[in-house]
Amino acid sequence: MEPFKYHIFVCTQAKPEGMESCAAKGAEQTLAALRREIARAGLDSEVQVTTCGCLGLCEKGPNLIVYPEGTWYAQVKAEDVAGIVSEHLKLGRPVARLARPDASSMKKEISEHFAKVKAIKEFLEKSGLVPEEVNAVMRGFMESRIMLTAVELDLFSAIGVGATAAQAAKTVKAHPRSTEAVLNALVALKLLTKNGEVFYNTPLTARYLVAGGSDDSRLALMHMVHLWRRWSTLTAAVREGTAVAKEALKKRGKDQTAAFIAAMHKNASFAAKAVVPAIDLGGVGSLLDVGGGSGAYAIAFARKKPGMKVTVFDLPGVIPLTKKYIAAADLADAIRTQAGDMTKDKLGAGYDLVFVSAICHMFSPKENLALFKRIKSALNPGGRVVIQDFVLDNAKTSPRMAAVFALNMLVNTKGGGTYSGEEYLDWLEQAGFAEGKIQPLPGPTRLAIGKKS
Ligand SMILES: C[S@@+](CC[C@H](N)C(=O)[O-])C[C@H]1O[C@@H](n2cnc3c(N)ncnc32)[C@H](O)[C@@H]1O
Ligand code: FES
Repeated sequence: MEPFKYHIFVCTQAKPEGMESCAAKGAEQTLAALRREIARAGLDSEVQVTTCGCLGLCEKGPNLIVYPEGTWYAQVKAEDVAGIVSEHLKLGRPVARLARPDASSMKKEISEHFAKVKAIKEFLEKSGLVPEEVNAVMRGFMESRIMLTAVELDLFSAIGVGATAAQAAKTVKAHPRSTEAVLNALVALKLLTKNGEVFYNTPLTARYLVAGGSDDSRLALMHMVHLWRRWSTLTAAVREGTAVAKEALKKRGKDQTAAFIAAMHKNASFAAKAVVPAIDLGGVGSLLDVGGGSGAYAIAFARKKPGMKVTVFDLPGVIPLTKKYIAAADLADAIRTQAGDMTKDKLGAGYDLVFVSAICHMFSPKENLALFKRIKSALNPGGRVVIQDFVLDNAKTSPRMAAVFALNMLVNTKGGGTYSGEEYLDWLEQAGFAEGKIQPLPGPTRLAIGKKS
């Protein structure tokens, strides 16, 4: 039974550079136009659009198939889509100009294509060349480094509403020859466009990477730039079993702290929209956010339950920044701050809920157990600790982001890492918490919850 009157499969397959593909021929633009035209025609509830992989007619892309008729359309440009919607989807008349009626020749063409692909795969397999999926991971750092340099030099702002390489180089005080090479590579990465000698921001880079952009994220992204040097010590850190970069082990400077807290704020403000509603605040009169950073979660908690006493605990060097973020949210009267070191200073007492977000990965198992015990003493009987972090499956190989993040902690901390649900539950139990449980969240993190009985 068909839930929709029409179901359209649009091939958006990308292939290695130099090979024909629907993606290279503008399938994304065709797809966007199709969705737009269907909505404009009021057919959203009657037509389902699904992207699909190679249909075997790559030279004639972008290709799409409309079911239930099984009409194959080839070389569908964005400007052709309105015709398909008005003729085929509205009136039930396939557009002969774009449709491929020749089923048997089409079948022959598709079979030949897949035979050719199979032969190339077998040839590459026999050649002993390092496969592309391995190479792509190996050289991932090159594209990443180009982007980090562009952000570090503030090149996107230098491009502004359009600039030549020489103009941008002058603005960022760099060499014109090398600046041009970086800008050209950014065009290849689709992060800039180029017309003649002039480079332009894309709508995306103008929004996030340019001074004054509507979601200017440059300060937060500088945190990634700072991580580069530490990640380059990964091999030595793996040998030693701990961070070896001297700067990883000393206190962050003022600029690095501001970038780090800005990065945390950006992520946490977004994540809080899913995390805070998932936490039951029934009966909670006072909440402590340990290592609360910018206060993004505290802000969301205070908004969810006005009148609840909310306190953010963080390092003395961070609290002035926390206060600024809280004041900007107009919640200076609702949220208290407390400066201290959570590993040795008193956390306070009388809390119904202690929230610990993105903290446990900084610490070793032993340090986490000690922290949980200290948190227990800050809680009222019946109070809960709610931990939010990357939580690995028990094999410790997924989620992918959590497994990779373990190494971010290796290069950045003495004993940090990412931990499995089993480990969290074990520490909670050892610290004397009851009713330990792991609660899934939408996204790569989870909650670990325990109750002080
Ligand atoms: C990864 S951030 C998490 C911030 C926030 N909880 C969130 O989820 O976005 C870690 C926070 O812990 C704070 N922190 C690190 N070590 C600390 C310590 N020993 N005592 C208190 N706060 C600490 C940092 O300043 C930072 O704000
Ligand atoms: S890439 Fe679309 S048909 Fe092959």
